[in-house]
Amino acid sequence: MTNNNKNCRICNNNIKPFMSFGDMPIANGFLKKNQFENEYFFKMQTAFCNSCKTFQLIDQPEPTKMFNDNYPFFSSLSKYMKIHFEKFSENILENYVKDKNNSFVIEIGSNDGIMLKNFKENNIKHLGIEPSTNVAKVAKDKGIETISKFFDENLAEEILKKYGKADAMFSANCICHIPNLNSVFRGVNKLLKDDGVFAYEDPYLAEMLKKTSYDQIYDEHVFIFSITSVNNIAKLNGLELFDAQKQITHGGSMRYMLAKKGSRKISENIRHFLKEEEELNMNTEERYLLFKNQCEKSKKDLVDLLQKLKKQNKRVIGYGATSKSTTILNYSNINESLIEFISDTTPLKQNKFSPGMHIPIKDYDSFKSNYPDYAVLFAWNHKKEIFDKEIDFVKNGGKWIHFIPEVSIEP
Ligand code: SAH
Ligand code: TYD
Repeated sequence: MTNNNKNCRICNNNIKPFMSFGDMPIANGFLKKNQFENEYFFKMQTAFCNSCKTFQLIDQPEPTKMFNDNYPFFSSLSKYMKIHFEKFSENILENYVKDKNNSFVIEIGSNDGIMLKNFKENNIKHLGIEPSTNVAKVAKDKGIETISKFFDENLAEEILKKYGKADAMFSANCICHIPNLNSVFRGVNKLLKDDGVFAYEDPYLAEMLKKTSYDQIYDEHVFIFSITSVNNIAKLNGLELFDAQKQITHGGSMRYMLAKKGSRKISENIRHFLKEEEELNMNTEERYLLFKNQCEKSKKDLVDLLQKLKKQNKRVIGYGATSKSTTILNYSNINESLIEFISDTTPLKQNKFSPGMHIPIKDYDSFKSNYPDYAVLFAWNHKKEIFDKEIDFVKNGGKWIHFIPEVSIEP
């Protein structure tokens, strides 16, 4: 029996699930046929803490089940993300790395080095923390200094002894993965110089609610942050949220800028976002009950459409075997009978099967050389990049199926 009464991961307040997604596999756990029998599942439930206002998963698999020597997400596969990280790096370099010869920067969740590469090229002392050893190896091979461990307060102390304090710490699409967040924030606080900054980006709760993009909820994303929650979490750990900027990446993200308490002027942006989140009703339980209903409708609309196309004998495939798609497929119980295969450019995912629903994953050529009638855009956050290169699919009569912000067909 699952215990439905648990405590908030941040403030220990009692929390209750408002939504259950049923049994979920590891979102990035693409597998071979002989692994089907021993596939791991966990009960995925979401809760909203009424005290610190943090949206979170009640249970999360052990980090090593998700991040190991077989992690299939390689950041540098997206050329748009490369550009994004060049700009993010420029921003840090211009504003927070004053003395290039004597500065030190740290990235948490540095993956294949997509961001740190820009610091290495500027000869800046840097350190990447990346527990998934296979992606870390790609970074190391590029000459990026990386340690393969999970960041927390203990690791921060080790780093402090060996490397000293940092001028800037940053992270993207990683802090929301780490369950012991207070330990992470305390570690950051210990590692930062007195005027240092911690900049991190993650999918933004307001965007998820606006778009009903419930596919942001999966094992790795133990938190979906808002300005209100990050403001509270920072305060609990001696840090302060002093600025924030919306980002278009990953379907709508927020960049949070933190520093030691009292060390920087608080930007007007923070007051603006706090007010906006109140107005959007984001700090009340009712908003999450509405979200639950919106998710159920979205699921029904998608399944109805796929069943209708099946009756019409249309060929439907999936485009992009994202971790997000694991939530859509398992929550909606969509298998190979409705989606023939999913095309993906990641070699480590190809010729395997999707987690839980076991839809075959095929290479890009399987899509390109024999266009289907419909393609479900699972990698909807890369829509621009994909649409730019798939003009021929549409010219040949192909149609896209979207499910964000609602189920629709284009053109
Ligand atoms: N920053 C990259 C990678 C995001 S994927 C980008 O935005 O594209 C998240 C990464 O965080 C994975 O590579 C994973 O191995 C890493 N990660 C997970 N838990 C971590 C932890 N506790 N400390 C550091 N990295 C972690
Ligand atoms: P992404 O949406 O970035 O991440 P997540 O797993 O966090 O949901 O994943 C994009 C996936 O889509 C990745 O497996 C690569 C694939 N992809 C393609 O197959 N073709 C493309 O043109 C792009 C941009 C991505």
